[in-house]
Amino acid sequence: MLKIKSVSKQFNSFTVLKDVSFNLEKGEVVGLCGPNGSGKSTLLRIISGFEKPSCGKIILNERDITKAPVEKRVELGLSFAFQMPRPFLRMTVFENILTGCMLRCEKEEAMLKAEELLKLFGLEKLADEKAINLSQGELKLLELCRSLSTEPDFILLDEPFAALDRENTKNVRKKLKMMKEIGAGMLITAHKTRILEKLADETYWIELGKVRRIEETKNQGDSS
Ligand SMILES: Nc1ncnc2c1ncn2[C@@H]1O[C@H](COP(=O)(O)OP(=O)(O)O)[C@@H](O)[C@H]1O
Ligand SMILES: [Mg+2]
Repeated sequence: MLKIKSVSKQFNSFTVLKDVSFNLEKGEVVGLCGPNGSGKSTLLRIISGFEKPSCGKIILNERDITKAPVEKRVELGLSFAFQMPRPFLRMTVFENILTGCMLRCEKEEAMLKAEELLKLFGLEKLADEKAINLSQGELKLLELCRSLSTEPDFILLDEPFAALDRENTKNVRKKLKMMKEIGAGMLITAHKTRILEKLADETYWIELGKVRRIEETKNQGDSS
């Protein structure tokens, strides 16, 4: 389980997060929605270790990771997909995924796993392409694929639908559903709750630093 316990964050005298608490079970998808500037990215950066909370705790599988560095959190089962994809641009698509797979497996097994993952995301034809040459939509898929490559228990996805056209939005939704079926717990941020319908088991609304639960929609056919 991933627990966010009474997390607050101030930048100088400006309070962005006020006593935020909620949990994420393994295999569960939680949506975090709210207007621009409401603190979604800040919270994800705190959970992933890029930012420190002013107070509060992050507990991952019973372990206090509040002070753990980013790499340690990845090793312990956390991963993230950024709003602006951050692949290694000079590496090929395959190498980007392989790097993640190597965290858990030896090279030979990692190579097989990377191939498999690329197929799941429809990226196999681009395997030897340098990431820098990908389109916006392809980069987004690579970012999702990369976030799975370290076999995480929980993935933090910051606005995976931002700046995508209709076709890419549909495709990303499909891939997120597939990731859910694989059993990854996901915390997904978005502006509007609607885009997370039939994907999120629970949705929270964040505004003026406070987080509250707005709906609970257990999905049918969720076997995890
Ligand atoms: N490093 C920082 N220093 C000062 N203010 C920040 C910093 N990061 C974010 N903020 C402020 O915190 C608020 C929340 O930002 P953010 O978490 O990016 O919101 P969201 O992702 O919901 O749009 C904004 O007012 C933003 O300007
Ligand atoms: Mg943001």
